[in-house]
Amino acid sequence: VDISQILEPIRQDMALVEAKLHQPPPREYELLTAATQHLLSSGGKRIRPALALLTSHLYTDHSEKIIALAAAVEMLHTATLVHDDVIDNAFLRRGIPTLNTQWTPAATILAGDYLFARAAELASQTNDTHVLDIFARTLMTICSGELRQHFKKNQPVYTWQDYYERIEAKTAALFSCTAEASGMLAGAAENDVQALHDYGHDLGIAFQIVDDVLDFEGNKDRLGKPVGSDLAQGLVTLPVLHYLEQHPNDNPVSELLHQAEQQRSPQAIAQAVEAVRQSSAIQLSLAKAADFAQHGQEKLETLPDRPVRQMLHELAQFAIQRQS
Ligand code: IPE
Ligand code: IPE
Ligand code: MG
Ligand code: MG
Repeated sequence: VDISQILEPIRQDMALVEAKLHQPPPREYELLTAATQHLLSSGGKRIRPALALLTSHLYTDHSEKIIALAAAVEMLHTATLVHDDVIDNAFLRRGIPTLNTQWTPAATILAGDYLFARAAELASQTNDTHVLDIFARTLMTICSGELRQHFKKNQPVYTWQDYYERIEAKTAALFSCTAEASGMLAGAAENDVQALHDYGHDLGIAFQIVDDVLDFEGNKDRLGKPVGSDLAQGLVTLPVLHYLEQHPNDNPVSELLHQAEQQRSPQAIAQAVEAVRQSSAIQLSLAKAADFAQHGQEKLETLPDRPVRQMLHELAQFAIQRQS
């Protein structure tokens, strides 16, 4: 799947979204402007604004409100990444050093807070209290999900349900919020709004499963972020759950997970990552992602039969086939 083909019908709108993202508010503190520009210019797939724009094109050709919504969700996403990289102690994002490698944790957290506020300001440009409500609730859900994950790290008990609850909150909620709010703003009927929400949810789950797979078998240069970091931190994701199910007895992965985080040697981490890579856990995880993508695609069937509907279909395909 070629992402540029998916983005083609929304190229002009996406340029407007970029302009809005890059436009600093009046009297912004110059270090914040520089940090934000750096982060936004370093890339990013822009999947969430693409979802907002493609969705709206099912109902309307152009709407300023949707441009604001698309910019708001990307800004919100960017803010969560700034905080996530502090939490995960990550040094690389979108191929450039993270803010937390250059600023103190305190300053980085404040910068993230600032971006959240900018996201809220952008969302308010939709002039739609219902959209603001969905937006605020989504942010509450993401924070709860990240906290849940934080307190689950390095705990020897893992369940499938736990995993799905976590990724639903930290990732899928923003996707479902984006599709739902965009449909609402574009004038979709209630049934369609529900279908869009469901599609967004499944897309988000598939997207995060693949992110978790790429943490095992992705390429750092291509991803622009470190690999193998989930297991190093004691974070149990879907590939690990599949692996542990198949290897109930002693194995390098359980061994690693039972060690204290500071005690995990690079060799032990590499060995555990390799064990998962060599097992069928990767294929099984990708098959689950494909199931969610397909389920999401089925939700599209009742929506208006406009050409962009096919692009939403392709977007789900991209989510599961991507290498970055
Ligand atoms: C990374 O999101 C965080 C997840 C929820 C998996 P993306 O993979 O969309 O990150 P960018 O925006 O393209 O860098
Ligand atoms: C995404 O999960 C978390 C957010 C919602 C910000 P990850 O922690 O897996 O994202 P990456 O892998 O660092 O991009
Ligand atoms: Mg992370
Ligand atoms: Mg990840």
